Amino acid sequence: MSSLALYGGPRTKTTPFGSGKRFGEEEKKQLMQVIDEDMLFYFFGKKVFELQETFARLYGMNYCIACSSGTAAVHIAIGTLELTPGTEVITSAITDMGTLTGILYQNLIPVFADIDPLTYNLTAESIEQRITPRTGAIVVVHHAGLAADMDKIMALGEKYHLPIIEDCAQAYLCGYQGRWVGTMGAINAFSLNHFKHITCGSGGMVLTNDEKKRKIASLFVDKCYDREAGKRNPYFLAPNYQMTELQGAVALAQLKKLEWIVERRNRLGTQLTEYLQQIPGITPPSVPAGCRHSYFLFMFRVDLSRIRVSLVDFSKALAAEGIPNAPHMITGGMCEYQYDIFRNLSAFPNSRHPFVSSDLGTNISYQEGLCPQAEKAFLETINLQINEFYTEKDIREMADAVEKVAGFYRSEG
Ligand SMILES: Cc1ncc(COP(=O)(O)O)c(C=O)c1O
Repeated sequence: MSSLALYGGPRTKTTPFGSGKRFGEEEKKQLMQVIDEDMLFYFFGKKVFELQETFARLYGMNYCIACSSGTAAVHIAIGTLELTPGTEVITSAITDMGTLTGILYQNLIPVFADIDPLTYNLTAESIEQRITPRTGAIVVVHHAGLAADMDKIMALGEKYHLPIIEDCAQAYLCGYQGRWVGTMGAINAFSLNHFKHITCGSGGMVLTNDEKKRKIASLFVDKCYDREAGKRNPYFLAPNYQMTELQGAVALAQLKKLEWIVERRNRLGTQLTEYLQQIPGITPPSVPAGCRHSYFLFMFRVDLSRIRVSLVDFSKALAAEGIPNAPHMITGGMCEYQYDIFRNLSAFPNSRHPFVSSDLGTNISYQEGLCPQAEKAFLETINLQINEFYTEKDIREMADAVEKVAGFYRSEG
């Protein structure tokens, strides 16, 4: 076996990764039209409305409400459920803070459930363990671009009369048993931030089939001003989460590329999975039958009892082979409840509100070991990003590098 590049051996990846530009003529054309219209405000413009219609049609849903970020989209979705402050909302221990921000701003209590170690998604069993008389909703995160097991989770929602929100920020055009994720929950959220498959710098979208939720969402975006009815008399607290015409224009152009991007990432990710499956001690993501993974992230587990090296050193050796990667899944590498805001119950200054509150009747704390599978996943997972511009040769070389590093440190005894 040749020695690792880390120790002066030959690098596995010697040629640059395939690359390309995310924005081009289509975005310029759309933006020029906005400037020519001389209007950036969504309610008087055309692009945000067109985006909403196009996105809803793509997903076969009745309504889409565009907004300023994925965080805003989740917040809006939560807002439409009209939950009483102090109500518990169950979500995944592995997600982005954007899933939790809106929950906390609505004075609701996040409750974390554990994941399946091979899909990194919430399981119906772990959710059910967390349901109490105080539970008011479930926010399902389709992690890294793979659908959670929605049939079981929807059945749980029906059994306990709990609305489900799908957080699809990482999961554009992800298939689940013949449906798209984002079409099953009561109201579902998407992100258009820089890191996502498609982007307009920052932006978000909400999908629902329910007219009442659409109405509340449209108010929630806009300070509870009812522009449709020409009324300005807010009856609940709502932020300003408007999307501008500039964002709408770019998002419209990006939408045209979405199917190609997801198709390409799915093909490359499937290829990489097939290669990595053959390497002892390495476990690529497991894609349940009937699912289309869109590989927002490509993660694999390292069995550290067989591959005798720390995850950080494995990651460094892989990087030295020319393969960019992140140990512990993402920067920070910990469950959401291990963040200071939850450890210290410090959402709002000088108080433990809403976690501990005599007004709300709440008293929750978040301890280590709450979700053991999620905690373990962070310790053993490397994240390789897949880009739609990568070539099949890039994927082969990524796999070769993982094989080389794993083989070097593997103890067969
Ligand atoms: C699962 C999930 N939810 C919500 C968000 C928040 O999206 P945004 O960054 O657009 O606010 C993200 C962003 O990374 C995410 O991954």
